[in-house]
Amino acid sequence: MNQTIDTMRAHRSIRSYTDDPIPQTHIDEAMLAGQAAASSSAVQPYCVIRVTDNDKRQQIADLAGPQQKIRDCPAFFLICCDLRKHMLIVERSGNEYKTGLEAFLVGAVDASLFAQNFTLAFEALGYGTCYIGGLRNDLPKVNELLNLPDGVLPLYGLCVGVPNESPSHRPRLAPKAMLFENEYPSDEHTLASIDAYDEMYKEYLIERGANPATWSESIAKKFSYANREGLADFYESKGAKLS
Ligand SMILES: Cc1cc2nc3c(=O)[nH]c(=O)nc-3n(C[C@H](O)[C@H](O)[C@H](O)COP(=O)(O)O)c2cc1C
Repeated sequence: MNQTIDTMRAHRSIRSYTDDPIPQTHIDEAMLAGQAAASSSAVQPYCVIRVTDNDKRQQIADLAGPQQKIRDCPAFFLICCDLRKHMLIVERSGNEYKTGLEAFLVGAVDASLFAQNFTLAFEALGYGTCYIGGLRNDLPKVNELLNLPDGVLPLYGLCVGVPNESPSHRPRLAPKAMLFENEYPSDEHTLASIDAYDEMYKEYLIERGANPATWSESIAKKFSYANREGLADFYESKGAKLS
């Protein structure tokens, strides 16, 4: 029994919330927990923007799907890779800011370490959360709505609120399909693990009243066409360098 591990393992995305507001003290606590995450050489290349303006929230909800929970949740946050503060420091020092794919990767990785700690802190306080990648449908619009300067690269959103639903846990691949020793296993091993998972996944969807599909079927559909192809151009237009 370990309370931290129990909290981690209790996670499931929550997409419906009560109207109960989130006290600022809880947001402050989650921020400190988020910021306690490791960060490459302490460069802290991320920021989070709480969106409280209802009209902006509705516009983000619309472009992200629509996903009305973005408008309806008690708190909605945008997680960003933030290279801007580095740009300002370098420029103030009289040097030219130089960047490359490494800076973007560090930003996306460190922002996600922050975001997961932030999320877990909310979950430990009894809230439900749901990440929102759907807003990458239209990053130029998100950028305009939130007036983001160069160097601030929106990655995904996060809805937080008191749960108004209690969904079951979405099953995961077996740990042995993910944890390897010394080398990557054979394709036969990988496919056998996937076969074992497929039926479990389909049963979960049936139980949730969703369209029944095996995990393989969903993955085959998802990765048989390119998605959101304008992302590299958008991020480069904001000052990232992806090559
Ligand atoms: C970066 C990221 C983006 C996501 N985007 C969305 C989203 O736009 N809408 C949504 O309803 N769920 C979204 N999710 C939630 C995933 O669908 C969910 O985590 C996954 O199906 C596993 O289910 P669970 O979180 O309930 O365990 C996102 C999750 C992550 C990590």
